[in-house]
Amino acid sequence: LIHLLSIEGLPKAVIEHILDTASTFVSVSDRDVKKVPLLRGKSVFNLFFENSTRTRTTFEIAAKRLSADVLNLDIARSSTAKGETLLDTVANLSAMHADMFVVRHSESGAPYLIAQHCAPHVHVVNAGDGRHSHPTQGLLDMYTIRHYKRDFTQLSVAIVGDILHSRVARSDIHALSTLGVPDIRAVGPKTLVPGDLREMGVRVCHDLEEGIRGCDVVIMLRLQNERMSGALLPSSGEYFQRYGLTEERLQLAKPDAIVMHPGPINRGVEIDSAVADGPHSVILPQVSFGIAVRMAVMAILAGNEA
Ligand code: CP
Repeated sequence: LIHLLSIEGLPKAVIEHILDTASTFVSVSDRDVKKVPLLRGKSVFNLFFENSTRTRTTFEIAAKRLSADVLNLDIARSSTAKGETLLDTVANLSAMHADMFVVRHSESGAPYLIAQHCAPHVHVVNAGDGRHSHPTQGLLDMYTIRHYKRDFTQLSVAIVGDILHSRVARSDIHALSTLGVPDIRAVGPKTLVPGDLREMGVRVCHDLEEGIRGCDVVIMLRLQNERMSGALLPSSGEYFQRYGLTEERLQLAKPDAIVMHPGPINRGVEIDSAVADGPHSVILPQVSFGIAVRMAVMAILAGNEA
């Protein structure tokens, strides 16, 4: 593996290798991740052209725990604002001896463009591109599901919300399918669930209660207002009434169901606070697992896995 640009097409063995490697970075406690010298002397450049809290920060923590030097380019204050192109920016950062670029961009395909033009020794990790892919989120979601549920081949997983604009949904569906999950459901309004998911073996459902009935895992997604035109955008009150996950509705899932969300959550829009902060929620453990999973990805790309 030279770059990690998408989960689509990653063989099952590679996904399992990343998850297994991540587990070597998580010690007995969920919150205690070991510091190791695997990326000593390497420079990791975080290039976030779109906002982020979890992904950017956990990549930085992960790189530091691998002993890399980390540089966060402040895009708002960079010469991008003076008209410098993406490829010129990357060429100049490469001249500063970058070994790895972690790239988030609102345009689908931007990390691919960088991967095609950077020096052969440089690795590119997609940290979310447009609505296309968010592979490390997909991997940390699989890590979380495996941690709580163990066996993918017996699971019912519902992904609920704005699936149309969600790179997380796309990455999760590819990974769940590769790992052998037999029942994947996409639940949401007709305008926000692409019909072609059926061709990927996904059950499409427009009724929340039917969609989460008997599920082991419920993955909630926020409305991606920034990617929607007015016509598509439901009002948040109306949306919560039809698709908001409440404690009462969650009772339709299995008694030991877990509730996931990639964040940021919009309380009272797609999820009630009582569920987000409740006993079924694994939303914050997802964030913690993200550190170990991103350590694994960077260590494997650099050829230095544990
Ligand atoms: N899950 C996720 O990508 O969150 P951020 O946008 O905060 O990185």
